[in-house]
Amino acid sequence: MPKGKTSLSNIETKLAEKRVDLAEVRHMGKNRKRYSRKYYKSAELPPCDYLESDSELQAEEVIKKIYSTKFNLKSSAYISETFTAFKKVQELHPHLQKIDTIVCFGLGHFGWCATSRNQLGFISLIKEYLEIQEVLFQDPVFTPKEAEILKNLGFSVIPGNLEGKFGIDQEKKYLIYLPHCPKQLTNNFLWKNWGTKLSNILLLSNSFSSVLISGSKSNLQIDAGLILKAEEFTEEIPLENNFIYTDVFNDTSIHVFPRDKLEVVPEVLWSERGPEPDA
Ligand SMILES: C[S@@+](CC[C@H](N)C(=O)[O-])C[C@H]1O[C@@H](n2cnc3c(N)ncnc32)[C@H](O)[C@@H]1O
Repeated sequence: MPKGKTSLSNIETKLAEKRVDLAEVRHMGKNRKRYSRKYYKSAELPPCDYLESDSELQAEEVIKKIYSTKFNLKSSAYISETFTAFKKVQELHPHLQKIDTIVCFGLGHFGWCATSRNQLGFISLIKEYLEIQEVLFQDPVFTPKEAEILKNLGFSVIPGNLEGKFGIDQEKKYLIYLPHCPKQLTNNFLWKNWGTKLSNILLLSNSFSSVLISGSKSNLQIDAGLILKAEEFTEEIPLENNFIYTDVFNDTSIHVFPRDKLEVVPEVLWSERGPEPDA
């Protein structure tokens, strides 16, 4: 094992052997503070733990907590129903049987927040279940220590801030995960990949249907114009929010952009994606 790396398999085994403390994810206590507002653009702020600085974060402790949440999730109805939903989608869309890469935007401070840790455990289980090789993360709030933890776990962090405008490789298949992200981020992702290559993507995000009823058409056109346009060809599979902690996976759907639908949309739909969004 390289110097400085944590033995993850040892931690996982130890956690499996002893009774796991569920209390760490009961996170709505009075002693929790909010994320710093400056990091957020438009989404509602979840409550979360508070540490003064990154230097207080103990990487080994965080990794233990991640494995603990993963262990609890593994036996949940939520994860088994999610796996079933993915399998059904893949049966209906066989070209998505083999997903190459997971890209996750907006995970948040998993070093501090149980919600984000559960979402990280969720990604890790999906990676194993669907045998996905590569997992990439980007969130401008990640601290250096959080980025290091992700790397220790075998994941990668995309440097900088793409504002969601991650361009996919046409040859690969993707699972894009945007847990509770601002709709602008999803819209930016669609903008970058607008066209028939969307068929290579499974998009796991806040429900498009919910976004579409969240405001007037004219308001949505300003920051969710492509979610509006995508309504014409999107298939949405809602995931039932039956996890014990109801604010971790609420309002989440798998979205598929089926090839046969994309191939018959009027060409003008692709040419009218609009100018590049700033942010
Ligand atoms: C409402 S929070 C969700 C955090 C966490 N996933 C949860 O469910 O509690 C939205 C997240 O989107 C992130 N975000 C905002 N702009 C972003 C960007 N340009 N790229 C990636 N993530 C971004 C924020 O930093 C924040 O972590």
